[in-house]
Amino acid sequence: MRSGSNVCGIVAYVGPQDATPILFEGLQRLEYRGYDSAGVAVVGKSGQLRVRKAKGRVRDAAEGLPARFKGAPGIGHTRWATHGEPSDANAHPHVSGTVAIVHNGVIENADELRAKLTADGVEFASETDSEVLAHLIAAAAADPDVDLAEAVRLALTRIVGTYGIAVVDASRPGVCVVARNGSPVVLGLGDKEMYAASDVSALAGHTRQVVHLDDGEIAALTAGGYRTFTLEARATTKEPSELDADAASYDTGGHATFMAKEIHEQPEVVERALRGRLDPRFHTAHLGGLNLDPRDARAIRRVKIIGCGTAYYSGQLGAQLIEELARIPADAEPASEFRYRNPVVDPDTLYVAVSQSGETYDTLAAVQELRRKGGRVLGLVNVVGSAIARECDGGIYLHAGPEISVASTKTFTATGVAFALLALYLGRIRDLSPADGARIAAGLRALPGQIQEILDREAEIATLAAELAAHRAAFFIGRVRGFPVAREGAQKLKEISYLHAEAYPASELKHGPLALISPDLPTVAVVPDDELRDKNLTTLGEIRARKGRVIAVGHSAVADDTIVVPKNEPELDPILLTVPLQILAYHAALSLGHDIDRPRNLAKSVTVE
Ligand code: G6P
Repeated sequence: MRSGSNVCGIVAYVGPQDATPILFEGLQRLEYRGYDSAGVAVVGKSGQLRVRKAKGRVRDAAEGLPARFKGAPGIGHTRWATHGEPSDANAHPHVSGTVAIVHNGVIENADELRAKLTADGVEFASETDSEVLAHLIAAAAADPDVDLAEAVRLALTRIVGTYGIAVVDASRPGVCVVARNGSPVVLGLGDKEMYAASDVSALAGHTRQVVHLDDGEIAALTAGGYRTFTLEARATTKEPSELDADAASYDTGGHATFMAKEIHEQPEVVERALRGRLDPRFHTAHLGGLNLDPRDARAIRRVKIIGCGTAYYSGQLGAQLIEELARIPADAEPASEFRYRNPVVDPDTLYVAVSQSGETYDTLAAVQELRRKGGRVLGLVNVVGSAIARECDGGIYLHAGPEISVASTKTFTATGVAFALLALYLGRIRDLSPADGARIAAGLRALPGQIQEILDREAEIATLAAELAAHRAAFFIGRVRGFPVAREGAQKLKEISYLHAEAYPASELKHGPLALISPDLPTVAVVPDDELRDKNLTTLGEIRARKGRVIAVGHSAVADDTIVVPKNEPELDPILLTVPLQILAYHAALSLGHDIDRPRNLAKSVTVE
């Protein structure tokens, strides 16, 4: 069986220090991306390769490390297997002779290459596709006239697939080679030392100067600096950029988990997302990165939003805002579906790709397909300089700061705000009146304080969560504006509490699922005080008549238990109504004793298909 190692973390170091503690610390920061096995390889002083790897958490691999386990350069890896068992043998680094490699991604022609190498007498130690790469590089490096960078380049020309890799060779000390194709690699520039990682979170605390590699790019790192070149051996020049977050953003900051920290950061996140973007003179939004002049913006006849998971649900909320405020038909679709259905790409449609990481492969592939067909794509992306951000024609950065918890919270909220700004802008160059523009702007400014009021109600929500956690499943219902809220609420509960949670439009309940309502199946109902309140109350009556338990989230008491949230403008209320559902899921998972930041089977960024 072939075993992929896809959604993983990589870290590398070259310089005068011992790489070992640097690698383990970096891996710990990356653990949220993958956590079923981990390992490091360093080149010791006398030129020997030292490798340590194990199934389990990073701390398992670090445990009982002998004092002589020292050296540099070094590479490290934390793995999340998508197929194939996590095991000591399948953990990275993979070694061939004096060469050690770590790899993220999938090598599609691994079986074919493995067969060829085996026929040549190479013995494989693991089931991974990645090990093929170690042997190919070692074979190319057997020629003493070939340097490590060239050996890596030659090996990569034989590979079909995706990769982010880091390579060291004990017989060529002082250099580490990294390469990227479809799986991110970022270099960190230190003082007489160099770092590399799959994610800036592993670099924070060491350096603020970073260089993002492009697909098909290789970098040779030494203590003195780096050079980059393409698979065709053409040198490239890179512009370093400044990291916008410091190491503190990667700590839980006194909270029990990253998810708790990120939920509590939301008032500040909204303030950041709004900063400098409201134009009080014309009651519109000022969005510098859209690259869309008013004439182009007026020509838009449809808006199509794509994203995966929480990003998709925030897109549904965004579509609603755009239809309401700008009166442009808008809808959202999972990027993972969109890219496979040979979509009709229309020049009058504005496409919007939503992604926290900016690396989700399905979303990136959908954006590439859209661009190839001449579509205009905006990105609503959190990670600055990420692949999706760079691929889009323009966009709005979310400025939510690093999100570490697998279950996304603050990014959902920041995306809702970004969509409100986009809808306000598109609306105000159409028919949204100055008075309505001012109303929405005031509503946006009120959000941070109102989110804080909800956070202050955490204890009350926790009590309801413990009750919910006693069941095996829950329904989440909402109408129109409330439906994306219900979907995101159900998603949060599923992801971290592992309870079955199904979101349904409240209007559809009577068309089938009402049959399931009983005292055993609680319903979480999103019931804002808007023009659909009476309809929602009728639905709640139908549930109650079947002895179904209802926990409502709304603006006034509508059920035995209602989490009452502050009222904003009807169009913006969904942003607020989602927050108590995040807290509800959090405390349900906590009361069940789950590992909240590392839910089973999931990873933060899915950079493969
Ligand atoms: C993964 C994560 C989800 C996330 C989705 C999209 O599936 O587990 O939490 O919503 O990817 O991620 P993105 O980075 O594109 O927003």
